[in-house]
Amino acid sequence: MRAGDVSTMNLKGRIAIVTGASSGIGAATALALAGSGCRLAIAARRHAELDRVAARCRELGSECISIRTDVRIREDCIELVRRATTELGPPDILVNNAGFAIFDTIADASPDDIRSMLDTNYLGAVNCVQAVLPGMLERGRGTIVNVASIVGIMGFAGMGAYCATKFALLGFTEALRDEVIDRGIRVSAVCPGTTDTEFFVTAQKGKAPAAERLILAVPPARVARAVMRAIRGGKARIIVPWPAGAYMRFKEIFPVTAHWLMRKTSELVERAGR
Ligand SMILES: NC(=O)c1ccc[n+]([C@@H]2O[C@H](COP(=O)([O-])OP(=O)(O)OC[C@H]3O[C@@H](n4cnc5c(N)ncnc54)[C@H](OP(=O)(O)O)[C@@H]3O)[C@@H](O)[C@H]2O)c1
Repeated sequence: MRAGDVSTMNLKGRIAIVTGASSGIGAATALALAGSGCRLAIAARRHAELDRVAARCRELGSECISIRTDVRIREDCIELVRRATTELGPPDILVNNAGFAIFDTIADASPDDIRSMLDTNYLGAVNCVQAVLPGMLERGRGTIVNVASIVGIMGFAGMGAYCATKFALLGFTEALRDEVIDRGIRVSAVCPGTTDTEFFVTAQKGKAPAAERLILAVPPARVARAVMRAIRGGKARIIVPWPAGAYMRFKEIFPVTAHWLMRKTSELVERAGR
């Protein structure tokens, strides 16, 4: 599977690691990969939830092992790749999806929350990439998909510290892609807009930004389909759903107007008391 034949990639028998697979987008991605015939190592901290997802993957005919992992801990990520390799074989695919947010203004955000988001959303992905990359480089093949966010393309008021983790992840993803693209390894970012998952239970412990309440949430299975497209097609960046993609393209061309519109919309929403 050199870079050139990724677009027609048959996933049957491929070995995939998915982090943050105990719920939401990660669980939906694990199920999609299982349905495509992949052999899976799924990772997260909540073991009971992870085991339930693994059981559903096995029902789909996939060999699936669950490995308790805290992506903030480098040794956990090394152990995740080691066990996946020993029990399944050398990983072909890594989906870095583990992440969380606590929404707050910069003035009010707790330093511990800021550090914990960075440790998980950015450095967690770095830990997993560094654990899997030497083997992929040696084999001259592999696919890495990082689940970022539209808030890694445009900063949204009320969630600045979270945005920063996703901006970091996108910069890392672009640089990594250029470093390894000629060595048989594809690197992609999937940037979801609002997705209907447990994410908001934690995120809204802080103050939800007003404009965010206007955005219609998509189901996690829709984001999982985008991850599958990234794995199969190797595209640099996929934004889902398409209206979010359209707004991000508008923002990249007219950043001042895009931010002004977002501020005005948020003011209107706040005033309407939604
Ligand atoms: N929902 C949205 O609107 C949205 C939009 C854009 C991007 N995203 C991104 O999508 C990804 C998945 O989020 P989701 O919406 O599916 O939320 P979710 O249902 O809360 O899933 C988050 C996953 O990350 C795992 N996780 C969190 N901290 C971890 C750690 N330290 N080590 C290992 N796993 C960890 C959680 O598992 P454990 O708690 O069991 O460890 C869980 O499986 C995140 O990166 C998020 O930033 C979400």
